[in-house]
Amino acid sequence: MATQAKPDLSSAAPPHGARHVAIIMDGNGRWAKKRLLPRAAGHRAGVEAVRRVARAAQDLGLECLTLYAFSSENWKRPASEVADLMGLLRRFIEADLDEFHANGVRLKVIGDYHALEPSLVAMIENAVARTSGNSGPMIAIALNYGAQDEMVRAVQRIAQRAACGEIMPDTIGPAEIDAALYTADLPPLDLLIRTSGEQRLSNFMLWQAAYAELYFTDILWPDFDGRALAAALDAFRMRDRRFGGL
Ligand code: FPP
Repeated sequence: MATQAKPDLSSAAPPHGARHVAIIMDGNGRWAKKRLLPRAAGHRAGVEAVRRVARAAQDLGLECLTLYAFSSENWKRPASEVADLMGLLRRFIEADLDEFHANGVRLKVIGDYHALEPSLVAMIENAVARTSGNSGPMIAIALNYGAQDEMVRAVQRIAQRAACGEIMPDTIGPAEIDAALYTADLPPLDLLIRTSGEQRLSNFMLWQAAYAELYFTDILWPDFDGRALAAALDAFRMRDRRFGGL
């Protein structure tokens, strides 16, 4: 069984006690439809929400905010919508990297982002490298991410280590799996939020969510903001986390 240590709620920790929040940003299309706008307008408004929430996460003292921006299943969408999302990501990095860097944010990407267009991969790697020495909060963007793919990849890496005698199969435990996931250097996941009223995990952080609190809100992603994040953290603070104990 996966074990996860209780978070260290030291005196420096914010009152909500959460270190790592992840968000399934859902509802861009419905937000646009309600306004008779094209889906691309919903995604553009979604980027504005990303900006607001990234700033709020820093103000609220989170160590890490992980955002599900493009799943490994999102390639099934029309090519024009995939291109819109990639263009938004590109412009987001171009426009916001300086501000993130100035605020001490460390950018990270989880997922098989090498499958994206080479110039976008280069931009991502530049952004990650440029901010890697910062000491502020981490913003992890999940791109071409799927939790089952992540686990398959981790199993393959561990099996390769076992095959060359670096590790004995019966010593493989949760820590070895944690270390082989994209999230190896992220804090344990405390709270997983999904917007737009849908209540499923959609192949997102399935291993990491083992002991995370789940929070579902009807707010559509483009309407989500710092107040909504603070409300989710208030709800988190009231939860009784027992990690299987009493
Ligand atoms: C789900 O809404 C949202 C996505 C698939 C993409 C999320 C992307 C963004 C918020 C913008 C790009 C992000 C960054 C970090 C620049 P949906 O389209 O499935 O909405 P629907 O369910 O209402 O149709």
